[in-house]
Amino acid sequence: MGRKLLTEHINVPGIDTFEVYRKHGGYRSVEKALKTMTPDEVVEEVKKSGLRGRGGAGFPTGMKWSFLAKPEGVPRHLVCNADESEPGTFKDRHLMSKLPHLLIEGMITSSYALGANTSYIYIRGELLYVLRILEKAIAEAYANGFLGKNILGSGYDLDLHVHPGGGAYICGEETALLESLEGKRGNPRNKPPFPAVQGLYARPTVVNNVESIAAVVPIVNDGGEEYAKLGVGKSTGTKLISACGHLNKPGIYEIELGVPVEEFIYSDEYCGGIWKGRDLKAVVAGGSSVPILPKELILKTAAGENRLMTYESLSDGGFVTGTMLGSGGFIAMDETTCIVRNTWSFSRFYHHESCGQCSPCREGTGWLEKVLHRLEHGHGHMHDIDLLVSVAKQIEGNTICPLGEAAAWPVAAAVRHFRHEFEWHVTNPAEATRPGAYYSSKAAVAV
Ligand SMILES: Cc1cc2nc3c(=O)[nH]c(=O)nc-3n(C[C@H](O)[C@H](O)[C@H](O)COP(=O)(O)O)c2cc1C
Repeated sequence: MGRKLLTEHINVPGIDTFEVYRKHGGYRSVEKALKTMTPDEVVEEVKKSGLRGRGGAGFPTGMKWSFLAKPEGVPRHLVCNADESEPGTFKDRHLMSKLPHLLIEGMITSSYALGANTSYIYIRGELLYVLRILEKAIAEAYANGFLGKNILGSGYDLDLHVHPGGGAYICGEETALLESLEGKRGNPRNKPPFPAVQGLYARPTVVNNVESIAAVVPIVNDGGEEYAKLGVGKSTGTKLISACGHLNKPGIYEIELGVPVEEFIYSDEYCGGIWKGRDLKAVVAGGSSVPILPKELILKTAAGENRLMTYESLSDGGFVTGTMLGSGGFIAMDETTCIVRNTWSFSRFYHHESCGQCSPCREGTGWLEKVLHRLEHGHGHMHDIDLLVSVAKQIEGNTICPLGEAAAWPVAAAVRHFRHEFEWHVTNPAEATRPGAYYSSKAAVAV
């Protein structure tokens, strides 16, 4: 059984209340940081921990913090990204609804490290029930002297606000989030300037994912070096994985980074194998934006080594034979899954969610959806398959924000690894479009 740094007490009755959370060691990191450490020392521990951002890109958190523009005296902000709208990712809402004080504790300790006196949690608007839970917990933290003026007599002040999101996936992109938080339409900003220099209200700002901020709590409590002992290589610590799809035990698992993918899927400690005794066809390992991999490549790298749940191992082979850990949204698909239908479904999402600012994304996501629609519905041509790859390539790298890539990569990867399924839709439209039809390598057609 791997160690649980974030979720050890998640099932304790009443752990969402200040009193019970405190009884289980809650808010120790705030006491330790504010009473015995300088802000720079906290940043140093986070650097030592090797923590990488859990929002998707995996950027080292300590390094991001150290980019925060100096001159002292200029107000700066910490903004928690709790927008969580990526299909397949549902870990942050779970953490916040069960352990709201863990996030608040992380926000206080991290805000202290960054010298922020006003911080924000920007939460997906649809998660109103979680927003209410957070508001209640924040009120408790104020009432107990952990928020507000002169926290624990340290002279440090912090106000923490929760803000409901604008109801769009794009509002999770950090600069769109900042626009939205400022009360504007959530369109991504051109970079530079990066948020660390000009973020919220043009002030130096750090945007971090919920899980990244929560991880600061065990890092400060036990020290960065202790945290770095868990995991493999540059993938240190634990990671929340939201596992869904055709699994016997879908759910949210806190894993020590480095668990073999095969163990994660098949062992009873985690997902317990593929449902209904079926075979695994493919996995999207890190949320809908990352490249899909067929069974053979998700379990083993192209070199035949066991694929591990780490940033490095999952990306081994680049996008030719690898993928990404992303936000940990792990979607397993059994042998009866139609990859064309699934890719079309993802494309509909990205077309709907494109903010429309950049032509390659606005037009390209529409083309991807349209071409996939005709392939899925039996009106496709062979050249449509290469057209998909061509459109995906023209989006990639040509947009202000990475939503373009998020739309393009899954399509390009589906064609790369499952071209035969797309071809089958063209050569056998009558079979391929029957309800419930899927391509199986064991029987050419199964309905
Ligand atoms: C379209 C889009 C949506 C995103 N949605 C989220 C989100 O819901 N939550 C999140 O933490 N990061 C999201 N990100 C990544 C953020 O831009 C940013 O990298 C992240 O919040 C940084 O936090 P971290 O360093 O702690 O990972 C999204 C990025 C894009 C391009």
